[in-house]
Amino acid sequence: MRVQILQLLKKNLNKYISGEAIANELNVSRTAIWKHINHLKKTGYNIESTAKAGYKLTNSLDLLSKEEIFPYISNLENINDILYYDSLDSTNNKAKILANKGAKSGTIVIAEEQTGGRGRLNRSFYSPKYEGILFSLILRPNFLPTEASKMTLLAAVSVVLAIEKITGIKLGIKWPNDILYENKKLVGILTELNGEMDRINYIVLGIGINVNLRMENVPKDIKNTLTSLNLITKNKIDRKQLFIKIIEEFDILYKEVEAKGFAHILDLWREYSITLNKEIKVIAPNEEYIGKAIDIDEDGALIVNCNGKIKKVIAGDVSIRNK
Ligand code: BTN
Repeated sequence: MRVQILQLLKKNLNKYISGEAIANELNVSRTAIWKHINHLKKTGYNIESTAKAGYKLTNSLDLLSKEEIFPYISNLENINDILYYDSLDSTNNKAKILANKGAKSGTIVIAEEQTGGRGRLNRSFYSPKYEGILFSLILRPNFLPTEASKMTLLAAVSVVLAIEKITGIKLGIKWPNDILYENKKLVGILTELNGEMDRINYIVLGIGINVNLRMENVPKDIKNTLTSLNLITKNKIDRKQLFIKIIEEFDILYKEVEAKGFAHILDLWREYSITLNKEIKVIAPNEEYIGKAIDIDEDGALIVNCNGKIKKVIAGDVSIRNK
């Protein structure tokens, strides 16, 4: 119902529509309408109301609210719910709290901004309001914890495919989880796991995309390290359309993984990798070395040839060396 009310308000953007007209069109009581309007106001929509004229929507921000997104993805097999927040410290933090309280697999936690967005290795993720797509997906898969790191690869491939389909831009994936354009970061993925040796309790897949960054506001110390889709395409990007596409791609690939395993994901990942066949520097938990990245194995670990010795990178940081 709330979705239909929002649609009517949008159709009449900046014009009043009376409570009676909405009630007649949607066949609901005026009290119900009043309640839904209040909810929409709290969500972030500017709606003016007067007893005489009714309701008027005065902003058409492309919010990523449940009302905007859920109708398009609620039919997907692996998606259950969206919880939308104006501001959070980190969608991963919130998702973990909710997962610990029993939130269902397929719950998406999304925020318009993060005040403490987190990345791997204790890094922070720049998350200004309305400029990105910042969300976490709670999953409770049946496979073993050893398979979980491949979910990061699955997420990376979903995002790369969706961005390519919507904008035509071909991106590169740097092992394991950064998506880059011309060596600058466009997307970060943070996968967190809760489980026991032989069982995953839940995975939180956190994804942050720089969509419409206002580059003039980006702090100086990170300005040269990141990029944004609007900067690359020279156009403002429809966040809603892109977000829906990412979830659709994810759903297709996840179904495939459940049916046939990760082999196809690994192939897609190899196709988009900018790490393979490059000389790289590896900073692993206990050592640092330089070598050539030659493949990823069936567990998603990076295989590196270091002066003829084959090493496996499971965790750590990898940088591509420019010769
Ligand atoms: C990285 O750069 O190492 C990963 C960055 C991941 C950022 C996303 S934004 C949504 C989710 N919430 C977080 O706090 N982090 C992830």
